[in-house]
Amino acid sequence: MKVHPTRKFDNKARDYNHIEAVPLAAAMGAEIRRVDISKITDEQFLEVENALYRHKMIYFRDQKFSHADQESFTLRFGEFADDAYTTGVEGHRNVQPVIMEADTRVEMVFGNGWHVDSPFLEQPPAISMLYGIDIPPFGGDTMWCNSVLAYETLSDTMKSVIANLKVHFSARSVVDQLALEAQKKEKDQASDGQKKGFGTMSLDMKTQKMVAGNYHPMVRTHPKSKEKALYVDQTYTSGIEGMSADEAAGLLSFLKEHVSQPAFSCRLRWEPGTFVVWDNRICCHHAFNDYDGYRREMYRTTVKGEKPV
Ligand code: SIN
Repeated sequence: MKVHPTRKFDNKARDYNHIEAVPLAAAMGAEIRRVDISKITDEQFLEVENALYRHKMIYFRDQKFSHADQESFTLRFGEFADDAYTTGVEGHRNVQPVIMEADTRVEMVFGNGWHVDSPFLEQPPAISMLYGIDIPPFGGDTMWCNSVLAYETLSDTMKSVIANLKVHFSARSVVDQLALEAQKKEKDQASDGQKKGFGTMSLDMKTQKMVAGNYHPMVRTHPKSKEKALYVDQTYTSGIEGMSADEAAGLLSFLKEHVSQPAFSCRLRWEPGTFVVWDNRICCHHAFNDYDGYRREMYRTTVKGEKPV
């Protein structure tokens, strides 16, 4: 069932002294103006951090910075997270390339499907960032959804049902899909020496650990804002602790649809130089495989997170 959570939307911008925040959608997201990421001051950073926790996802247009600048900005939030998928670019192991070449044809792009970044880890990344360099003329947008709004919109009865449940997060479906793509590719062409991956991105995966995954609370509390969020996604959520697959199926099918419905979302049209930061603890996001024939080049960094509580 799709909801229209009237009176629960509050994505108004706060008044800041060193930055300007302009809301993107009713549910979440804001553009941050008057900031050059490569020259950000301490005063600006404090307001940027505040805006991130308020709007869940923030973005900056017309940024021009190096991998080292992106690393320095990321480190202002905390140490780098371990990335489950790639080993980074040369000389910058914490800057992960997210690149799709124009002639690549795949079923699944990196970030396809509604997901939280790496919730199958014991300590999933707290914050993720993506810097757009080469952007297709159309397509290649990203969507986010606000998991706090999704939680607040549940009935009190449903909130009490899920209050103490733990979700099993596993990368099984992604790993299986990659294996299928690899098989198909082998059939279609003689081996070209590429490692398995999303198109031309090569991946370094500790597959068994990712599939085994971890259990985390279904209702997660943000360590700074103390907001409660529905910690469920469509890609990695694979079960509920103590329940059989059949028992969990109905509840999970409802919650996966609920968390990522249009009323809780925002959608970003990328431009070269757009830089996005999102709070991975309280939102899901979704990339699209809809720009065949065009190149898309992005660079991602992530901040180490805590064990969800
Ligand atoms: C991601 O899931 O981090 C990638 C999102 C995108 O490429 O739009």
